[in-house]
Amino acid sequence: MRNSALHRKIVLRRPDDWHLHLRDGAVLAGVLPASRDFARAIVMPNLVPPVVTARDAAAYRDRILAALPEGQRFTPLMTLYLTEGTDPSDVEAAFRDRLIAAVKLYPAGATTNSASGVRDLDRAMPVLERMAAVGVPLLVHGEVSDPEVDIFDREAVFIERVLAPLRARLPELRVTLEHVTTADGVDYIRGAETNLAGTLTIQHLILNRNHMLAGGIRPHYYCLPIIKREHHRLALRRAAVSGDPRFFLGTDSAPHTVAAKESACGCAGVFSAPVALACLAHVFEEEGALDRLEGFASLHGPAWYGLAPNDERLTLVRRETAIDMPPAVDTGDGPVAVFDPGFPLHWQVITEDSR
Ligand code: NCD
Ligand code: ZN
Repeated sequence: MRNSALHRKIVLRRPDDWHLHLRDGAVLAGVLPASRDFARAIVMPNLVPPVVTARDAAAYRDRILAALPEGQRFTPLMTLYLTEGTDPSDVEAAFRDRLIAAVKLYPAGATTNSASGVRDLDRAMPVLERMAAVGVPLLVHGEVSDPEVDIFDREAVFIERVLAPLRARLPELRVTLEHVTTADGVDYIRGAETNLAGTLTIQHLILNRNHMLAGGIRPHYYCLPIIKREHHRLALRRAAVSGDPRFFLGTDSAPHTVAAKESACGCAGVFSAPVALACLAHVFEEEGALDRLEGFASLHGPAWYGLAPNDERLTLVRRETAIDMPPAVDTGDGPVAVFDPGFPLHWQVITEDSR
């Protein structure tokens, strides 16, 4: 990464997004351009119905590629949604064919469209064993869905009850703990010797639960795992800027229409893709760590997934005057509001047209 002395301009390898929801149909077409800063993304399989088989993944990949606007260079890295009936041979073949990059574990009931997820991990052991043997990464939504467990404790309890025993049973399994939201998650990853990494979202680096709940409820900040206390946010920030290659960016950009968010029972998910890099540069600047931004956004992820970093470069410029917040994205299903970090954005991605 090249940095001007005053940090007015940063050139870094083009980033990737290691956790992204693109949806399908009209919403897919509407939100895909918002990921234009990213060369590749791990695409979540929680469609309705979910992406369960290699065939589903191939069809979904083709729909994504068909929806790409002219000129957007973007490679979707597909994932399969783990169910208790997933066929180990289908997973192995899809991975060997490079059709999928990973398999995603949603504990049943933990989040949006997770009803077909795993209830009893023992029933998924044959496929997990095969994944460990073949080297297929397991992406984990790390929350228990047990109604007895307080929503703010669900990540820590998941690590203790589910993840630690699973990793003890299958130490060869490569696991990405997705959207880590707690100091407990950060410490657990730091303490692991091998085969464990974690993604961090934009909103969890910026918000604590007061931002969401004090002085009025802000449904656009509601996502899962839920935004936590300040001390957790600070732990996530330290992890992001630490240079530790086990932490990297997964925006978890998750579009829902304004109508679905602003509701008596609003959907979980924050649509951050359009402002992800501007927000991230802001966070790294605040932390005095702009020299580590490229590692977090562009290098650690590919290394973990055994891929080369992107050759292309992307330029971020710090403007004196704040840039305009992008407007809501219109989709055939209705508008989707863009994440508002609550501070003015000064960093701007320079593309061919805005140069
Ligand atoms: C995601 C979604 O909307 O699909 N929502 C969210 O709050 N993050 C699902 C998920 O990743 O948990
Ligand atoms: Zn997600």
